[in-house]
Amino acid sequence: MRAYDLLFSGVLSRLDPERAHHLGFAGIKAAGAVAPVVAPRRTAVRAMGIDFPEVLGVAAGFDKDAAAIDGLAALGFGFVEVGTVTGEPQAGNATPRLARLVRDEAVVNRMGFNNAGAEAVARRLARRVGAGNAANAQGGRSFPVPLGVNIGKTKVVPEEAAVADYEKSTGLLAPYADYLVVNVSSPNTPGLRDLQAVEKLEPLLSAVRRRADEATEHQERRVPLCVKIAPDLADDDVRAVGDLAVALGLDGVVATNTTIGRTGLTTPHAEVEAAGAGGLSGRPLRGRAEEVVRVLRDQVGPEMTIVGVGGIDSVESARSRLEAGATLLQAYTAFIYRGPTWPRSVNAGLVAKTGVRR
Ligand code: FNR
Repeated sequence: MRAYDLLFSGVLSRLDPERAHHLGFAGIKAAGAVAPVVAPRRTAVRAMGIDFPEVLGVAAGFDKDAAAIDGLAALGFGFVEVGTVTGEPQAGNATPRLARLVRDEAVVNRMGFNNAGAEAVARRLARRVGAGNAANAQGGRSFPVPLGVNIGKTKVVPEEAAVADYEKSTGLLAPYADYLVVNVSSPNTPGLRDLQAVEKLEPLLSAVRRRADEATEHQERRVPLCVKIAPDLADDDVRAVGDLAVALGLDGVVATNTTIGRTGLTTPHAEVEAAGAGGLSGRPLRGRAEEVVRVLRDQVGPEMTIVGVGGIDSVESARSRLEAGATLLQAYTAFIYRGPTWPRSVNAGLVAKTGVRR
């Protein structure tokens, strides 16, 4: 048995899941503080105008406040998507709000975008990056790997003011982001997923695009912009988002977020019930998340970046997602179950088996 498996089954799985997260997070952050900040030299994928040293990055939600980028890079993730960051700071939902379904290597979360807010996260990034410099500015990176910033809506902000809330985060954070992601797909903010409807998504993405351009004007670059979608959209709605992404000149789509579905589980019903409401991630999400990538790739053509995420837990499942049409990959839940050596092993396995793509 590997050391992490022992630690997981003996210690971590017995702890409250959110406590285990904080413990692991503290370790990663500490490792980042002592690890030499060395940018990897190779490029596995060039996408959205950015050189990604590895195909697999860490999905949004793990490092909500951009506090552990170096540590995550030191573990072998090829990029880090921080957030979701909201316009205003917020505490998130009441605890408990995170549950493991160990038999299915799945997690149910209803965190509710607990985060320090766009101003605080921008301040943290500015300390590191220096005012006005892009994280991935030509001539030298401030972080060892590319940095995505995922933004979402503050819970107390009413739907009529949602665009302004995203604009606030965009203005503050775009200058530090290698790429921006508009998250309209988390199930834990009431009404958020309704923004995926094209008639609401179009004005939102257009406004974010405009504000991002204003915020980075002095940098002489255009921040790549992506949208993150839910696996629970019907295929026709996935295609409609794909068409909109092409029409608006978006740079990418992140597919997918967690599901509100509970199908394909082997965990006893009572345990699933006890986990409560929220988004399901991990192995049971894999099939649908991959299907969404396939549907999207068919719709948007070969050029647009698709970040495939959902249930990737091995070199095989990673390779399969690339074959379905993903350009880049992300994971969160498998990292919980497989531990700190897992990201590097998947990225190394992909290089060995897949070679460099795009
Ligand atoms: C997430 N995810 C997520 N996504 C997002 O866009 N913003 C967020 O704040 C969060 N928060 C979050 C918290 C927790 C505890 C989990 C498990 C997940 C979703 C995540 O980025 C990813 O899309 C899904 O988890 C599917 O990938 P995995 O976990 O199956 O690899």
